[in-house]
Amino acid sequence: MAIKIAILASGRGSNFLAILNEINAGRCNAEIKVLITNNPEAPAIEIAKKNSIPVEFIDRTKFKKREEMDDYIKLLLDKYKTELVVLAGYMLILKGKSLLEAYRNRIINIHPALLPAFKGEDAQKQAFDAGVKISGVTIHFVDETLDGGPIIYQEAVDISDCNSAEETAAKILKVEHKAYAKVVDSFSKGAYVLKGRRTQFINFPIKK
Ligand code: GAR
Repeated sequence: MAIKIAILASGRGSNFLAILNEINAGRCNAEIKVLITNNPEAPAIEIAKKNSIPVEFIDRTKFKKREEMDDYIKLLLDKYKTELVVLAGYMLILKGKSLLEAYRNRIINIHPALLPAFKGEDAQKQAFDAGVKISGVTIHFVDETLDGGPIIYQEAVDISDCNSAEETAAKILKVEHKAYAKVVDSFSKGAYVLKGRRTQFINFPIKK
């Protein structure tokens, strides 16, 4: 059965599009139920519209506290019967307790560096400026901490030949696009069991 996912994105949406393309190519067993965005100008909205995916816009200014905004996101996720929440360039930290608790280990994020190195914004520039030769991609569960939830998947990217932060970001992004769809697909085939901070993938039993 395809896993029902919600995408949260604030911008360009290239990871959203990559997942969509992999779904359409039959390589990612997921169904995108909704795009939720906090940015009315996000190019991701066009991608959703072109592909008849419902868009829900959340207006930050309408909520007194971020917790309240996240409570509303939880209502939306429930409404679309979301099984997995996929953050794809969602540039706000999820702070709502009820959201994080209700969707514990069902919210994933992609980060353009090998965590725990280079947390937060502009991770590719942080890595380039630090002069590291190897950076990469991390996909992790989202919890109350900034880029600190249990790690699901990592892939190293050699950035030693990159001449700018932009080149670094572009090289890492290519890897993000393949990796994210692969990880989303894995949720339809099994579950990640947590042993402390370590995740271990267990395949679902094959039904005969
Ligand atoms: C991606 O590089 C993603 O890893 C990064 O934002 C970009 C979004 O691009 N996310 C973070 O930095 C989260 N801390 P996209 O909108 O084209 O998918």
